[in-house]
Amino acid sequence: MFFSIAAVFSSLLLLAHRSIAIEVDITDVQSISDAAKTIASHVVSYYGGDKPGTIPGLLPDPYYWWESGLAYDSLIEYWAKTGDDTYNEQITEGMLFQMGSENNFMPSNQTANIGNDDQSTWALASMTAAENGFPEPPSDSGIDSWLQLAQNVFDNQVARWQREIEDKTCGGGLRWQIFPFNVGYEYKNAPSNGNFLQLAARLARYTGNQTYSNWARTVSDWSFDIGLIEKDTFGVLDGAFADQDCKKPLRIQWSANLGRYLEGYAYLANSSTIREYQDYPASMLEYALGIFLPQGNIVTETACQARDNCNVDQLAYRSILARALATTRAMDVSTSDAITPVLQASALGAAAQCSGGKDGTTCGSDWASTKWDKSQGLGQDLSALEILLANIPEKQVRTVNGTSTSGRPGTPTGSSPGASGSFYSTPLPPATGGAGDQTAPMFGLFTALGLAVVLS
Ligand SMILES: *[C@@H]1O[C@H](CO)[C@@H](O)[C@H](O)[C@H]1NC(C)=O
Ligand SMILES: *[C@@H]1O[C@H](CO)[C@@H](O)[C@H](O)[C@H]1NC(C)=O
Ligand SMILES: *[C@@H]1O[C@H](CO)[C@@H](O)[C@H](O)[C@H]1NC(C)=O
Ligand SMILES: *[C@@H]1O[C@H](CO)[C@@H](O)[C@H](O)[C@H]1NC(C)=O
Repeated sequence: MFFSIAAVFSSLLLLAHRSIAIEVDITDVQSISDAAKTIASHVVSYYGGDKPGTIPGLLPDPYYWWESGLAYDSLIEYWAKTGDDTYNEQITEGMLFQMGSENNFMPSNQTANIGNDDQSTWALASMTAAENGFPEPPSDSGIDSWLQLAQNVFDNQVARWQREIEDKTCGGGLRWQIFPFNVGYEYKNAPSNGNFLQLAARLARYTGNQTYSNWARTVSDWSFDIGLIEKDTFGVLDGAFADQDCKKPLRIQWSANLGRYLEGYAYLANSSTIREYQDYPASMLEYALGIFLPQGNIVTETACQARDNCNVDQLAYRSILARALATTRAMDVSTSDAITPVLQASALGAAAQCSGGKDGTTCGSDWASTKWDKSQGLGQDLSALEILLANIPEKQVRTVNGTSTSGRPGTPTGSSPGASGSFYSTPLPPATGGAGDQTAPMFGLFTALGLAVVLS
């Protein structure tokens, strides 16, 4: 009797525990940082830590290699936005372990099935490290800097693009797969080309070297020419087939594909070396808010969430759009009014959805519901982490190794508020509508939109 009472009591406790969720005051940087800390610890746990058989930078099944790079990118952003350096050594170890003998994120274990988008996902993580002054690799690591790693990947992909021009396939463009023996070699996809544009744009802004902005322009022109980006709407489609001369791109639309291009254009529009892209972020943003917000201000993976059939990769896509929205808001201040309510409502929704599992903070995917949807995984965690971090403005005064610097290293000089008592000089905007505001009638539209997106 005593035991069963104890059992009932402890399961009641467990139930109470279960509903704790992750609480966050979306107008308070410390509160957002605390929430992010919980989720960052989930993310790190997937790598396996000191468990025997763990390979640095490699995730167990079902996670592909690209997502490991994506997770490092988020963990670097976590450090940059919160100042918590708990995971920095582990990040460095994993990044360097996976950079491969040519220092270009082509490790031999992966070459049998590596795609251009996989490789560039890691390069973008390296770029995030460079831009934020993440501690550089140790001197015995074989590489001078995070920047150099990103540049090596860029050089590889330039060479691949040039081969496409010589071979007269679609007038350029990166293929999804690097090697002809892989399924997907015929496909020139948005992730590869959007990442390449973004990498070029960020290198252009970071180094001021015109070669990079020229390449960003080349990728942009090509993407519009073949209709991967639709001229009239700025919608980003998924990819086109080289053996069909890239006619009729597949129409399915993912938040990550648009996010990759959007972030690239945000960097370009803010870069002093190129002026023609001023309006692109706002135009692409307008389209994005039309298609990925079927439920109020909650960012939704429209193409799969309506039918609840997102795969492991797709569950991480919103992390990429979330970062893109944050960057766009920072780099193109005119977009702030449109983006801020979306970031706030989506982050509140995501935090409320982090209310499952044994610890009561396991993140599901349905940001429009305050009830845990019983799903869990790295993609859910990364998306929640990025949408929370997106609500912390770019740090205006950053302390790198005890030295105060203004803005991101290598950014064009502009507003430099100087050192003040506070780490952040811009107050956060007040919160508007959260997940609780959602109403049921949206769902019909949601489903219809989901289907419309899928059907070509
Ligand atoms: C490649 O695979 C081998 C065998 O599993 C492993 O020992 C090694 O650490 C892996 N290297 C990388 C870079 O993942
Ligand atoms: C700009 O970058 C390109 C490509 O990496 C390189 O070949 C060139 O030397 C760089 N130019 C300058 C001035 O650094
Ligand atoms: C460019 O980006 C910086 C932040 O890095 C921002 O302060 C500045 O206002 C941006 N420029 C424009 C024209 O939005
Ligand atoms: C700290 O940063 C300064 C300025 O960038 C640099 O000169 C110095 O070598 C750095 N110190 C360490 C210990 O990394």
